[in-house]
Amino acid sequence: MKTILITGGAGFIGSHVVRLFVNKYPDYQIVNLDKLTYAGNLANLKDIEGKPNYEFVKGDLVDGGLILKLFEEKQFDGIIHLAAESHVDRSISNPTEFVFTNVIGTVNLLNAAKNIWKDNIEDKLFYHISTDEVYGSLGLEGMFTEETAYDPHSPYSASKASSDHFVRAYHDTFGLPALVSNCSNNYGSFQFPEKLIPLFINNIKNNKPLPVYGKGENVRDWLWVEDHARAIDVIFHRGIAGETYNVGGHNEWKNIDLIRLMCQVMDRKLGRETGTSEKLITFVKDRAGHDLRYAIDSGKLQKELGWEPSLQFEEGLEKTIDWYLANEDWLANVTSGDYQKYYEEQYTKR
Ligand code: NAD
Ligand code: DAU
Repeated sequence: MKTILITGGAGFIGSHVVRLFVNKYPDYQIVNLDKLTYAGNLANLKDIEGKPNYEFVKGDLVDGGLILKLFEEKQFDGIIHLAAESHVDRSISNPTEFVFTNVIGTVNLLNAAKNIWKDNIEDKLFYHISTDEVYGSLGLEGMFTEETAYDPHSPYSASKASSDHFVRAYHDTFGLPALVSNCSNNYGSFQFPEKLIPLFINNIKNNKPLPVYGKGENVRDWLWVEDHARAIDVIFHRGIAGETYNVGGHNEWKNIDLIRLMCQVMDRKLGRETGTSEKLITFVKDRAGHDLRYAIDSGKLQKELGWEPSLQFEEGLEKTIDWYLANEDWLANVTSGDYQKYYEEQYTKR
């Protein structure tokens, strides 16, 4: 019997990881610690909330005392740390929040693990989930490898880079069994509609303008969220402490090409004439410090641990669009209230 702490399990990727672990490992006790910010939603976990090996704890990582108490009480064997402020645009409007959760929150977790595990680190693991954005921006050629030097540009990526450094420092200085994985852009069900794909699905559905930053030339490497959750499972069980693993989709898309594809698929699904949704495309002021291109070389993970993406992007995008069209209540619920205020602040007069 193992007790595993998953932080941020009510968010987008976290909810997929919690679901996978609860269903696949009935002999593990999964504790999901989440503050339930605007991005955290227990509706993401409705299908597993009654399972005997699952427990939800509402709490803020910034509260070091609460974290330590939880560790004393639960004596976790492993930690998969996903909780974070995750949206680049929000980090531009409010950087400090990102320092609290992403940096101080991570250090609080590291301290609790270090203190509780001190004489007994055998078989323990602190697994920190990070992003490819810490590597900065690529030109038109090349890929990020695990050796690429850190060069973050947004307050979000700077806070994630800082947290990655702390995790590695606790490994090197205190011998904490810890590892990091850095992943590319995820897409799929339960993603909050502030991120490109769900935002644009929602806007196309509602005939609202599609705000493309700059010229839409930026490139992202998209990965099906369930493939990321599978990678996390593989790395958690077979990854080596002290190592870093890059996770990516080998699936680069220029934003504007991806947006045109989404428009075509949505026209078909909504029974609109081809070309209708493309008319919603509106080029707006670019994101400050906008990284041009991300592309991940996940060869190490493939070679050493045998993971690779399972789904072709076109199929994943169809599935994702189908999910958002079939889950109108979920979408209506998360876009009510504060979302409208955020949307106005972010996009009006852009
Ligand atoms: P998300 O914003 O959907 O979810 C974040 C979760 O963390 C939410 O449930 C939120 O309530 C919780 N949280 C935030 N602050 C907290 C705090 N102080 N205490 C406790 N809980 C808190 O994020 P996501 O997109 O699922 O990303 C999860 C992780 O994966 C993050 O660490 C992110 O940096 C990383 N990541 C994301 C992507 C991506 O494409 N979304 C890609 C690579 C890495
Ligand atoms: O690369 C991994 C990262 O991917 C994660 O670490 C982040 O948590 C996640 O949010 C994501 O960051 P991006 O900034 O790449 O994702 P986002 O969906 O915000 O934007 C994708 C691209 O689309 C980016 O080039 C900006 C552009 N964009 C985004 C929005 C929200 C637009 O053109 N218009 C928009 O309205």
